Amino acid sequence: MLDEKKVSFSGVQPSGNLTLGNYLGAIRNFPEFSEKYKCFYCVVDEHAVTVRQDPAELRRRTYETLAVYIACGLDPEKNTLYIQSHVPAHAELAWILDCYTMFGELSRMTQFKDKSAKHADNINAGLFTYPVLMAADILLYQSDVVPIGVDQKQHVELARNIADRFNQQFPGTFTVPEPVIPHTGSRIMSLQDPLKKMSKSDENENAVVRILDDRDAVIRKFRRAVTDSGSEIRASVDKPGITNLITIYSCVTGRSQADIEREFDGRGYGEFKQAVGEACADLLAPVQARYRELLADKAYLESVMKNGAGEAAYYARKTLSKVRRKIGFVNL
Ligand code: TYM
Repeated sequence: MLDEKKVSFSGVQPSGNLTLGNYLGAIRNFPEFSEKYKCFYCVVDEHAVTVRQDPAELRRRTYETLAVYIACGLDPEKNTLYIQSHVPAHAELAWILDCYTMFGELSRMTQFKDKSAKHADNINAGLFTYPVLMAADILLYQSDVVPIGVDQKQHVELARNIADRFNQQFPGTFTVPEPVIPHTGSRIMSLQDPLKKMSKSDENENAVVRILDDRDAVIRKFRRAVTDSGSEIRASVDKPGITNLITIYSCVTGRSQADIEREFDGRGYGEFKQAVGEACADLLAPVQARYRELLADKAYLESVMKNGAGEAAYYARKTLSKVRRKIGFVNL
């Protein structure tokens, strides 16, 4: 715990245009922590370079991701919003934690297995040790809670194990963090293959709704969404396509699954898909309007980055110097 408040930490990679999955599973939930917690929300550009990025695009997306944070309701006055590479303590702590993480643990990370299959020509060491950098992000701020979608749960569990291992040798060093995963929306699926997670890097644009897609694109993508055989609007394991749409509609409208099934009883897939598309477009419209204003003001975004980095570095330094002292590094 820092000061008197508990701490919330989360991050998003600026590695592609953010998706409805990123929004419903994570970013939308960040602002509700702002009152009760001291909040750090980071744009994790160091994570993004574990796969090849076009430098100009990475730079542009870093600004865009920060603008999306603010447009989604994160007030820079109430939250520390910053860019990971502006605070070198992340990379420094990651090196130390590398030495407290086992090869076997990292080999079991499902995201490493997926990403190394996808980028078989570039299975670099960073891709392998990525979860340690993520543990450093979290532990550096003595975070109590980490709001995430379900795909990041294994990484937060690893961060807990690393913290426990370190604390065993050096008691009281790190707060052991808890993942916070929303009841609905923690795993939004692809609109073209509902057995696969909706992912920023999907090559099929119809599979992914982007936070910044215009109204027509959002509605068109939902209209083209793959659904299952039959015509009933009912969530079940043998109907992954319609189940995903019901989940999205439930997240967007705040209504229960049962309520949605009742409303659309006897109505066709076409009508339901149209309703989901319109509801999503309505939800995203104000975020997009605010985003456009923010992106037009680069100087403002840079001032947020600077303030955020200064504040984050202050807290990060406290933990890092404690760690350095405990493990026997000479502090000058
Ligand atoms: P990233 O950038 O892939 O995703 C950002 C957040 O969005 C969630 N998410 C989803 N939720 C529901 N359905 C989906 N289809 C979906 N896709 C993504 C993710 O779970 C995540 O919460 N390694 C992290 C970034 C990170 C981080 C951290 C997160 C770096 N350091 C420290 C928390 C704490 C990542 O790649 O997220």
